[in-house]
Amino acid sequence: MSRILITSALPYINGIKHLGTLAGSMLPADVYARFQRSRGRETLYICATDEHGTPTELAAAEKGQDPATFCAEQHRIQHDLGRAFGLSWDHFGRSSSPQNHRLTQRFAQTLWEAGFIEERVTQQVYSNADRRFLPDRYVIGTCPHCGYDAARGDQCENCTRVLDPADLLKPRSAVSGSEDIEIRGSKHLFLRQSLFAGKLRTWIEGKRAQWPHLVTSIALKWLDEGLQDRGITRDLEWGVPVNAMDWGPNPEGQLPDAAGLAGKVFYVWFDAPIEYIAATWEWVTSRAKEAGRDPDDAEWERWWRLPQASDVTYVEFMGKDNVPFHTVGFPCTLIGVNERLEADGAWRPSENAPWKLVDQLKGFNWLDYYGGKFSTSQQRGVFMDHALELLPADYWRWWITANTPETSDATFTWEQFRDQVNADLADVLGNFVNRILKFTESRFDGAVPDGGSPGPLEEKLEADVLAKLRELTGHIEDREFRKSATALRQLWVLGNQYLTEAAPWTAMKTDPVRAAVAVRYGLNLVALFAKVSEPFIPFTAEKIALAVGEGFPGRWPDLDGLHLLRTLEPGRKVAAPEVLFRKIEETQVADWRERFGGPEQGAESA
Ligand code: MF3
Ligand code: ZN
Repeated sequence: MSRILITSALPYINGIKHLGTLAGSMLPADVYARFQRSRGRETLYICATDEHGTPTELAAAEKGQDPATFCAEQHRIQHDLGRAFGLSWDHFGRSSSPQNHRLTQRFAQTLWEAGFIEERVTQQVYSNADRRFLPDRYVIGTCPHCGYDAARGDQCENCTRVLDPADLLKPRSAVSGSEDIEIRGSKHLFLRQSLFAGKLRTWIEGKRAQWPHLVTSIALKWLDEGLQDRGITRDLEWGVPVNAMDWGPNPEGQLPDAAGLAGKVFYVWFDAPIEYIAATWEWVTSRAKEAGRDPDDAEWERWWRLPQASDVTYVEFMGKDNVPFHTVGFPCTLIGVNERLEADGAWRPSENAPWKLVDQLKGFNWLDYYGGKFSTSQQRGVFMDHALELLPADYWRWWITANTPETSDATFTWEQFRDQVNADLADVLGNFVNRILKFTESRFDGAVPDGGSPGPLEEKLEADVLAKLRELTGHIEDREFRKSATALRQLWVLGNQYLTEAAPWTAMKTDPVRAAVAVRYGLNLVALFAKVSEPFIPFTAEKIALAVGEGFPGRWPDLDGLHLLRTLEPGRKVAAPEVLFRKIEETQVADWRERFGGPEQGAESA
């Protein structure tokens, strides 16, 4: 049985995430991880905060903090919120960790020595007033294409064109506003991505049958547009220092200009994906520390290096904007460290154990807010902290999973949220569990009833449940989250239909044995629902499991159908849980629309 390695795109450190971030990576990854664990597979779900780069320095400065303090604080906040949402990360690391420093530097050195990195002198904006280079967003000026006067160095928000800071007309510093600016030559490292175009195309073409169309089409579009070499260093202070002091010669026999590179850091998109690996190392380090022993590299390398990791299926989850970095950028790094470019231009495998590349890559479209964008900078939409102030995590988990933006973008509205949560969670699942357990308490002494044998109704129920269960299992295995939620809801509905037809409350008067059978099947359905709902709504699933005396989390049911609805032994004590879901009221919706913005606001931003 294969092991499953799962990563979800690393959330940026600057600020609490909104529901869109949850929908487009962390939550589906969690559903998948919980499912795989309950199937009995050895599973590792890794995530971390993405801490480097210009936006972090800006956000820290705005709060009057140094980046290290800012990041430590924000990491804790994001960690706690993720846990409160039930995200079952095995480790939630930090891209600023010592492990990531080590690995990033080591990968860069290997890439240099293998011939895939080149030094170039590029034109950078230098601020005399701030006495520093101003990369990316640190410089503001007039867009050379559309004339917009507040374009940022990385992109013009008006015409959306990607810019180089040196392109801006009338540049000024975003830090101080100073216009005392000059263009200076600065030495940087470039990853020679253009060399990888052929290999990447073959690799991606080979994934067409397995990856969603969204993913392969974005990846191939990038390749069609021609792969550019990419600057992987920046003139910033906060990041992984380049430190090329002890790098060996490249295949042409050249050493890097260590002095010229001193004081630079790696570009955030170079070190962030490496943190997937480094966070696994962090996980091993912290577990070893807890156990009072020395960390063993073999423990994290068995997830990431071949041949030890050859039984690992590596699955990545991310929003569509991240796809190019995961199908091109990061694979270039990994293929590059796995190979060596000889001076004669031939590629040879490196002598080191190869690093594992992604097997399954799930990309998502956007979740919108009333048809407009969720926006961190404008605080539009619902953010993780506010969401939990309003309602427990499972309400959100359920709605988001049922509306995962898979085949197209999806939109959050309070009205639709209310309708779906009320219908699926309160009316269908909550009502079912409560009805049957209350009845067991009042008529069967709160114990699973004995006696009687299953009739045609039960046989039909078992067949229907088994078919639906297989469907549900297949959809999660295929990472089809909307379809999974639909199948799960239909499973709950089967329970309700059965109870309505079997009507133990009526049978009780005429045929108590019949009633006992119906109640026993009903309670077995409850136990089954606890198991199969756990990946989606773990907090509620736990309450349901406890209500019927089951352990939590349970094992995913076997698909052979044997004993599917005959697991609870007669006589076992059960008890109705507190109300599982409260219906969302119209007055609440009105309040929330007011507080977070409603249709008007969405339309404005669209
Ligand atoms: N922080 C990035 C974003 O939110 C994602 C980084 S994913 C990683 O878009 F691969 F770089 F880690
Ligand atoms: Zn423009």
